[in-house]
Amino acid sequence: MYRVAVIKGDGIGVEVTNAAMEVMRAVTDKIDFVEFEGGIEIFKKFGVPIKEEDLEEIKKMDAVLFGATSTPFNVPNYKSLILTLRKELNLYANLRIIPDLWRDREIYIVRENSEGLYSGEYEVDNSRVVDFRVITREGAEKIARFAIELAKDRNFKEITFVHKANVLRGDRFFRKIVLSLAEREGIKVNEKIVDSFTIELVRNPWQHKIILSENLFGDILSDLASIHAKSIGVIPSGNYGEEIALFEPIHGSAPDIAGKGIANPIGAILSGAMLLDYLGLDGWVIWNAVKNYVKKGNLTPDLGGNAMTVDVVNGIISEIDDQEIDPIEWDELWVDEIRINTLPTLFMK
Ligand code: NAI
Ligand code: MG
Repeated sequence: MYRVAVIKGDGIGVEVTNAAMEVMRAVTDKIDFVEFEGGIEIFKKFGVPIKEEDLEEIKKMDAVLFGATSTPFNVPNYKSLILTLRKELNLYANLRIIPDLWRDREIYIVRENSEGLYSGEYEVDNSRVVDFRVITREGAEKIARFAIELAKDRNFKEITFVHKANVLRGDRFFRKIVLSLAEREGIKVNEKIVDSFTIELVRNPWQHKIILSENLFGDILSDLASIHAKSIGVIPSGNYGEEIALFEPIHGSAPDIAGKGIANPIGAILSGAMLLDYLGLDGWVIWNAVKNYVKKGNLTPDLGGNAMTVDVVNGIISEIDDQEIDPIEWDELWVDEIRINTLPTLFMK
């Protein structure tokens, strides 16, 4: 049995995480889900977004499934739960998969998740505030390897590396590391300067199979790229570290639709598929079922339909029940100690 920590969060985080667990249970009975609480309510009681003892417990689990939490601007000293977890669990690689569920193609965005401008290192005095944009050799090498191994596994000849090395010293350093590793591995690097690349990402995204960037650029680019998936509600992600990984849909708690039963659960469900793959279980069954369902089933309002969350969940589960679960054979993909295996191999015809 695997033990998976579940943090549903609030708003639609709760609704979509329940949906994801239901779908995962339809595929495997090898997971014990263990629930934990975190977020603003815990912060108000304990002064931290997640209790210390819970964090210690979570570190012993095999993986984490996360929904979404609201992060208010007006609570002094509140630190977002997801940022806390990424840091505490050393989740250095962030992989978002932007799917085109209608045309069986996707973009992988590989973002460094622990350094750059989000390093948390700063200097403050009365007249000057400096946030340090930290790039370390170790951090750069690890994230470059993650993207390059993914490319090799998918038989892609190149990755797109987005930077601002014409201005930033850190990116010059990062660039050298990426180029030399890619050369050694026989992968071409398509280099793009971040500002002009935004236009290309809007106009002509699908030619970029794997996009590699540092933390802040990756954050912005991956949100921008989400428009190509038609709804932010369908995009899954994984945050990987050497000990554990955390999977979450990229959207937030969506207070505007919370409680109405119309949240799109597909991003959370596909995050569950990525989680199964990470554990070496059958994530592809979920990808397949989602793709089949989307092409014929009623969708939630964000995708122009009038389905409720529960209708989509039931539809996907009946697609799973219709599939023959004859395991597809593939070679496992590992980067250092991390199994990625990332599924939409099925998308690659
Ligand atoms: P959001 O992603 O919650 O919502 C943006 C828009 O997309 C809203 O109109 C919402 O209704 C829609 N939307 C999002 N997910 C959807 C889904 N699954 N199905 C259908 N429609 C969906 O972003 P927003 O409004 O900027 O943030 C709301 C709260 O969530 C804030 O407190 C923010 O801090 C938090 N947040 C948390 C994240 C996390 O926990 N990882 C990530 C992003 C935001
Ligand atoms: Mg973001």
